[in-house]
Amino acid sequence: MKNIAIKSVGHYVPKRILTNHDLEKMVDTSDEWITVRTGIKERRIALKQEKTSDLAIHAAEEAIKNGTIPASEIDLIIVATATPDSGFPSVACLVQEAIHAKKAAAFDVAAACSGFLYSLTTAKYYVASGQFQNALVIAAEKMSSVVDWNDRSTCVLFGDGAGACVLAPTQEDAGILSEYVHAQGQHANLMSIVAEDIKPLDQNHPCIKKPYIEMNGQGLFKIAVRSMADATKEAVRKAKLKISDIDWIVPHQANDRIISGVAKALGLPKEKFFINIEKYGNMSAAAIAVALYEAVAFKHIRKGDHVVLVTFGAGLVSAANVVRF
Ligand code: ACO
Repeated sequence: MKNIAIKSVGHYVPKRILTNHDLEKMVDTSDEWITVRTGIKERRIALKQEKTSDLAIHAAEEAIKNGTIPASEIDLIIVATATPDSGFPSVACLVQEAIHAKKAAAFDVAAACSGFLYSLTTAKYYVASGQFQNALVIAAEKMSSVVDWNDRSTCVLFGDGAGACVLAPTQEDAGILSEYVHAQGQHANLMSIVAEDIKPLDQNHPCIKKPYIEMNGQGLFKIAVRSMADATKEAVRKAKLKISDIDWIVPHQANDRIISGVAKALGLPKEKFFINIEKYGNMSAAAIAVALYEAVAFKHIRKGDHVVLVTFGAGLVSAANVVRF
């Protein structure tokens, strides 16, 4: 089978920064509580009129600009998102139109925080099979639109942003070496976005409920550590490598303490984990995509490095890939 490589990366985060001190003025919380319990110091918040598709388009444009394949030659666009602009059209179709990727097939993937890696694996096999020559994979989230800003147990955790990458075959001894995708639907009740009430048949009755996140934080925490450690081990085994061969782990950025738990479970020093949660909080599917962008752009990841990408998210869904850069 052909080697499929991550050829270029891009990202976009909104300009507005919401700090822990800002949140202190909104709900009964403190910078100290948020920092100690999560590792988050600030997060980005999109403008009211800025949609998930706008974030996705910016990230896609940067990934295209950083690569060698023009948008007109892109064959497939997959957008991972839990916060699409609407049920349809897909965000992927809006990106296709905006970047003029006229010949691309386009669809969205819903796998919560694991959406980027589910999409990466899907795109890899489309390209490896020869069905498409390349793929643009994007993760974009406007989590601020589904947060209950009166609920201190969730509103301190999330932020908005987008990351993207272009995949294509390579002749080099590099690329996505392995993948692991997993679901545990029995834990679906631990985290959900409660659906919005639609306008009732009685048109005089107002809609009052907005969609918002409900979460059992402690329940998720325990399963998250085990799921990410297991996903990492499985992907490394499938890549025919040992954990000690791994140079970098880029994990989902939900909670710094979860990342510490995964490091302990794998017997790896925390220094091998790329962490940017302090700047962005949990951007759901986009968190790992932006972390991957920064790890590459800031030259932490170098040519030849073995990197594990690993996520977990609502569903529950976990996923991991081993990539040789
Ligand atoms: N500020 C101050 N106090 C708070 C806050 C806050 N923002 N939020 C909760 N508390 C209080 C609670 O009310 C509780 O008070 P009590 O002891 O008087 O009852 C106390 O802090 C401890 O609350 P816990 O829920 O036990 O705190 P915990 O240490 O578990 O941390 C957290 C909570 C950060 C949510 C943690 O459980 C966590 O990160 N879980 C995983 C969440 C996660 O990963 N979600 C996303 C996964 S899927 C995806 O990314 C889409």
